[in-house]
Formats: sequence, C-alpha cells, structure tokens
Amino acid sequence: MAVRVVVGAQWGDEAKGKIVDLFAQQADLVVRYAGGSNAGHTVCTDGQTYKFHLIPSGILHPHVTPVIADGVVIDLRALEAEANALATQGIDTRRLRIGLGAHLTLPYHRLLDELQEAHAEGRLGTTRRGIGPTYADKAARIGLRMADLLDPARCRARLQRVLTARNAMLQRVYGAQPLEVDVLMAELMHHAERWREHLVDAPALLMDALDAGRAILMEGAQGTLLDLDYGTYPYVTSSHPVAAGACLGTGIPPNRLDEIWGVAKAYTTRVGEGPFPTELHDEVGDYIRERGREYGTTTGRARRCGWLDLVALRYAARVNGFHALAITLLDVLSGLPTLRVCTAYRLDGQLTRQFVADGFTLARCEPVYEELPGWQEELSDCRRRDALPLNAQRYVEFIESYVGVPVRLISVGPAREQTIVG
Ligand code: IMP
Repeated sequence: MAVRVVVGAQWGDEAKGKIVDLFAQQADLVVRYAGGSNAGHTVCTDGQTYKFHLIPSGILHPHVTPVIADGVVIDLRALEAEANALATQGIDTRRLRIGLGAHLTLPYHRLLDELQEAHAEGRLGTTRRGIGPTYADKAARIGLRMADLLDPARCRARLQRVLTARNAMLQRVYGAQPLEVDVLMAELMHHAERWREHLVDAPALLMDALDAGRAILMEGAQGTLLDLDYGTYPYVTSSHPVAAGACLGTGIPPNRLDEIWGVAKAYTTRVGEGPFPTELHDEVGDYIRERGREYGTTTGRARRCGWLDLVALRYAARVNGFHALAITLLDVLSGLPTLRVCTAYRLDGQLTRQFVADGFTLARCEPVYEELPGWQEELSDCRRRDALPLNAQRYVEFIESYVGVPVRLISVGPAREQTIVG
C-alpha cells in the first residue's frame, strides 16, 4: 500500500471506521481529510469500543502517526474531550499531528448552526456541530485556523473582526446573546497550550512521508451523497467527502492516489432531512434498524433505513473512481425472505439508470426494484466468501456486476475478525 483512500459510498455511516481500522495495520500514517466533529466512527476491538469524531481511528495502532489534515474543521472542545476519553482508555494521543491550516469551529459556529436548524423552514437536519457555518467562514476568508493560535495578537485581531459580524447576526437576526472576545480568547489560549506541540505543516509532513515510501491511509468521513458538490444538494454537508476531497484536504496530488476504496452497507441509511428513494417506512425498515443498530454515533438519532440503491452506488463508483468495494453489515439482512435492490429510477414517466444528484429532483424519483432471494442463516461466523449462503454470494455478485467494481471485502459483524477479505 502506498496511498489508499477509504470513502463512504452512500450517505455516511457505512462503517468506515472498521475498514480503516483493518487497513491501518499496514499504514504508517492515517489521515483525516475532511469534515469535522459531525463524523462518528466506532471501532470495536479486544472487547473495547472506541468512539471517534475528529481523531483518526488509526491512532489505535501504536505504530501509526495519526494526522488531522488541513481540510478538516476542528472544534477544540470536541477535540479535547475526545483526546481525554481516548487517554482514559489507555490510548497514547501524543502522536497526533494537526495541520496548521485546519480551520477552527468556534462557539458562534455551533450556535448559528443550532439557531438555523431551529427554524423549521429550510431545515437540513444537520448534526448541529457548527460545520456549515465554519466552512462558510472559510470560504468567506474570515475563518480562524490552527496557525492563528500560535500568534495571540493576530488571533485576537481576527477574532474581534469576525465577532463583530457574528454578534450582529446572533443579536439582530436571532435575538441571541453576543459572545465576548476576552472569554473566547482565554479559551483559545488554553487550547493553544495543549496542542502547540502537535501542530505541523501537514502537506509537507505528508509529502515527505510519500517521498520516503511510507504508506498513507486517508480516512474519509461522511459519504459521497453528502458531498457539497456531488451529493444531494442542498441536503449535504459542507465539505468534500469524495476521493478528490482527499487531495484537496491533504495536499497529496491526485496522481499519487493508488487505491480508492468505496465502503457501502448492504442496504442504505440516511440521517437528517433529504430525499431517499429506497427508504422503507414499514416493518422491514424497523428490522434493518434494530439488527443494524442504526442509531447515530454523534447524535444518537435513529437512522432512516431502506433497500440498497445501486443507481446511487454506481454513481458513487464513477465519481470517486473506486478500485474496490467493501460491503459492510451484510449479516443484518439475514432472515428476510426476499431482498430488493434499486436498479433504476422512474422520473416523470421515464426510466433512468443515471443518479439524480439534485436534491429536489431526486425527491421526485421513484425506485424501480429487482428482487433477489434472501437467506435465513446468520453470517457472523463466516470467514470466506464461498462459505456464505449461496443467496448471499449471489447478492454480492449482483452488486459487483451492476456497479462494475469488485467487492474485495465483506464485513459480517463489528469485530475485526468478522471480515471476509478477497
Ligand atoms: P452537517 O454536516 O452537520 O452540516 O449536516 C449536514 C447533513 O449531513 C445532515 O443530513 C447530517 O445528518 C449529515 N451528516 C453529517 N455528518 C454525518 C455523518 O458522519 N454520518 C451521516 N450523516 C452525516
């Protein structure tokens, strides 16, 4: 492995954490490239469960250098809480490296996200972690970055400037209390002390690692269909979870990506608002939700569940250039007599196999299904593809032939060993 990217192929929550954890065994550096503390990765190993929001889950491997790259937005309170929780579980967080160019999610970002979401009209169902407002400030060039923490005078001046605008918005638009620069500065300087030794020129660190032939694993957060440009806009996040986002977020050039892996569930889930053609509102949806423990790591919200949408998965494969697919949670589908997979949409009376990324148009698409026979056996003890029930093997083969990408990894349970490789 030289540079390997792990990308969510659906609307996030594809169990990327487990796949990243497996690949991290062969990596020297594991890098988060986009998103912020809206992400939630769970890794179960050696009887312990670890929860990640910002820190790359590769930190569980003592030989790995975990890096939060410049494309990530960092809520310092969330980072501190996560690092403290990992430390109490015996994980050494001193190896963590953080890009100087990473933007800060500050208390007013979170507040604005919450206030915007409180207005029913136009609600997106965000995680309320301040992600949209942080990336908005980044694009407006008024954001603060990790580098600003190292220069208190510059930090205060930039904070003062942005607070004038943000306080006006908080007070006049939402009738909320303004925030005080002194209070925020005191908090930022506390964090500056804590993280000073961790801050690095991340692109330089990664480029040097590449030149030295070290193996780099890029850990995606969220999923392709939540991408700001290629997802179901406006029901998207504000970053670029797609493989190209790994280049933007780290500085690693596109021609250095060796292996792009898409991670997809054997069915589909979505949290928050937005169109979801294969959503199930019946007992099959409930069955999947309970067997798959489909409740959010970050917000605890029950996830919307539905059949596998192959139109969307094929789109994800094309946008990302997947070399291989990892299919997760295949075990969840055991016990269903018949499985449906969406192979086309009906839009305005026409059949199409093209994904429709525009959120409003996708809401008008009806799924067209093919039915495949299910299987009754539990899969959690299967360790070889040919040991899966025949109908489960056929299900995986159907995915491969429709999407045109080989399935090289199948997950049949949360534990590391509950994995079929090859
Ligand atoms: P935001 O990223 O908090 O702004 O939320 C925008 C949309 O992305 C909402 O529909 C969220 O539910 C969704 N979202 C953000 N992060 C994740 C994730 O890690 N998994 C699944 N959905 C997410």
